[in-house]
Amino acid sequence: MANWNELFYDQENREKVPEAELYRFVSLLEKHFETTKLKLWDLGCGAGRHTVAMAKLGCDVYASDNADSAISLTENWLKSQKLNANVVLSEMNEFPWEEVRFNGVFSWDVLQHNTIDKIIKTVDLIWEHLLPSGMLLATIKSDKADLFGKGVEIEPKTFVLDSGKEKGVPHHYFNEDELRRLFDNNKWEIKAMTEQVIINVERPKEFWKYTPFRSTTWGVLMQKKVLRKSGE
Ligand SMILES: C[S@@+](CC[C@H](N)C(=O)[O-])C[C@H]1O[C@@H](n2cnc3c(N)ncnc32)[C@H](O)[C@@H]1O
Repeated sequence: MANWNELFYDQENREKVPEAELYRFVSLLEKHFETTKLKLWDLGCGAGRHTVAMAKLGCDVYASDNADSAISLTENWLKSQKLNANVVLSEMNEFPWEEVRFNGVFSWDVLQHNTIDKIIKTVDLIWEHLLPSGMLLATIKSDKADLFGKGVEIEPKTFVLDSGKEKGVPHHYFNEDELRRLFDNNKWEIKAMTEQVIINVERPKEFWKYTPFRSTTWGVLMQKKVLRKSGE
């Protein structure tokens, strides 16, 4: 499977502005935990826009990605701003630090880039490393997205594109049932679940290369439930 190294060599593929949702997530966590020194994990940090934003907000930031170029771009950006974070090269389904528990995990457009078994494992890892009542904010591809069905289907609903900007990158597309199954309701409380459906009414040639608008996606805000021991 391809990684994002080649994509990040092209400046155009590096997102530079953090999503507004990050700031709302951080203030929600600050209120919930009554602290401004949050421990946060940017899972799949890309070129570092959210890692840098979290560090600027004074959080204790951990960031991971499986592309070397993402790690060096993030580290260089932090350095240029005289900021610090723990940035590590790692597969999403492996936990790269010891004994860390987070107030929040933020993962923007990342979880879909795998096969379903590894996505399930990643969500389990996130749960394990959240503090009780910690939260996950993630966006995940929906099967209503434009690219659904394009490329080679390597397992049900996971496609590897054979052309275009994301050639070689796997995408798993979720419908509502599968998304609900991903978040076991014994372990997670749904705080918000949205499907933002974007309809490209006009589709000029290769519009997806330059359009400033979002593509269709699920957004989830999940809170870790504290498991009751049997007999309690
Ligand atoms: C669409 S980019 C999003 C980057 C970043 N979250 C942002 O919003 O700018 C997807 C990111 O997921 C990372 N990624 C893809 N597959 C991964 C995997 N198996 N393990 C860890 N990171 C992965 C890519 O390297 C890339 O940085």
